[in-house]
Amino acid sequence: MSADRPSAGQRIGTRAAPPSVDLVLFGGTGDLTMRKLLPALYRRFGDAQLAADARIVGVARSDIGREAYLARAEAACRQYLGTAFDAATWPAFAARLDYVRVNATVASDYAALAAVLRARPDAVRLFFLSTAPDLFAAICRELAAAGIVTANSRIMLEKPLGEDAASAARINDTVGALVSERQIYRIDHYLGKETVQNLLALRFGNTLFEPLWRRGQVQHVQITVGEQLGVEGRGEFYDRTGALRDMVQNHLLQLLCILAMEPPASSAADAVRDEKLKVLRALRPIGDSEALLKTVRGQYRSGVIGAAKVEGYLDEGGVAADSSTETFVAIKAEIDTWRWAGVPFYLRTGKRLQEHVAEIVITFHEVPHSIFDGPFSAQTPNRLVIRLQPEEHIILRILAKSPGEAMRLRPVDLALDLGESFKARPLEAYERLLGDAMQGNLTLFMRRDEVDAAWQWIDPIRAAWSSDDDGPRPYAAGSWGPATANALIARDGFAWHDEQ
Ligand code: BG6
Repeated sequence: MSADRPSAGQRIGTRAAPPSVDLVLFGGTGDLTMRKLLPALYRRFGDAQLAADARIVGVARSDIGREAYLARAEAACRQYLGTAFDAATWPAFAARLDYVRVNATVASDYAALAAVLRARPDAVRLFFLSTAPDLFAAICRELAAAGIVTANSRIMLEKPLGEDAASAARINDTVGALVSERQIYRIDHYLGKETVQNLLALRFGNTLFEPLWRRGQVQHVQITVGEQLGVEGRGEFYDRTGALRDMVQNHLLQLLCILAMEPPASSAADAVRDEKLKVLRALRPIGDSEALLKTVRGQYRSGVIGAAKVEGYLDEGGVAADSSTETFVAIKAEIDTWRWAGVPFYLRTGKRLQEHVAEIVITFHEVPHSIFDGPFSAQTPNRLVIRLQPEEHIILRILAKSPGEAMRLRPVDLALDLGESFKARPLEAYERLLGDAMQGNLTLFMRRDEVDAAWQWIDPIRAAWSSDDDGPRPYAAGSWGPATANALIARDGFAWHDEQ
């Protein structure tokens, strides 16, 4: 791996003064920029985490000019920030914003961008690519040809990073020809979530859990990321992608890595990424013969979410009428290491599920011998539930004696509500990630070898599915997915947490 060793300063959560930065947003009029990036930058600005001379340059094809761009940006920030939008702060933030029209594939268009950037040759240049990935190569080529990529430049890449190992390698080769690995910031926005970093804090900031965090103590692990939303106007993209590539290859596997990795020597970028990589490489491959046993794919039909009736996937705009794209996945994953041998990790994610929830459930072994009578004495294992969203809490279920004469045990929860405990505004994922990229901190970004390893585990599953004529199992919107997902975990004698 050619990634440079990180400096001691590159650690999670350390903040030097914000550097002088020129941030160029390709896809500058797109949904991600309007919904997430500009509001995040506005917040950074409000928190004095954007250098006073920072410039943000939206770049897109439309010929709208700076004034119209500012108007769109303001409308988006008002809409997505709600009460956090402060009209008094806006003019100062807007003064940092610019717009340059560039058709990504037209070489001559880059001259205008070069002219803007030339004014500050020593600033950190951040090129944020949130266009369709098939434009990444052209953008990199033209940036190089226009001579605007300096040693102080960084490229941020938004997912999807390819659709399989081969296409991801092509993207990485192209970007890698322009800049070195330590200048590439591959985003998985789950790593920017405050709650996900709290997992690191829980594991490595406390002595309590680490001795238990292994085979022998842990019986099994569940990771669920459920969404109530459907494809939300992204039918065409989603139909080409599916839940395995949209959610499992990146977000769920990153959660798995943070849960399962060995303690890194520090929180420096490569110390953490080396350990995550070992987990990805230790994932037991799921090949043709096992895919039908260890994976379940589903597709939602019409149903009811909350009180609202919602249409089925096949009726969504942009989705092929005979689509076999999965909107739900459940997988039994196994990690072939000493720490985790024999401990199943059940992953589950889907659209139009009963609940919007991201949750990790670690179930410990039952006591080896119970000295108590009663229904809860022996078969009720301790369980640690780490809820990442919509609210953040940690619950440890233990057994305690219920009041009365008899020595009867009952489960009770030690519950910690982190929102209540800190009463502070958590940073949004993109606020943190943009801040980290400005500071040159790579810890929360994926290294190339991680992305490759994740695809190498995912690709055989897709290959096995493509030769299975049965296609995804239907499930009603508003349910927890197809019944076969329950069977997947029940075969091992367990049940999903929401069924218990
Ligand atoms: C994105 C997926 O990466 O993550 C979306 O493309 C999904 O399909 C989203 O809805 C979920 O993110 P979050 O932060 O809302 O859990």
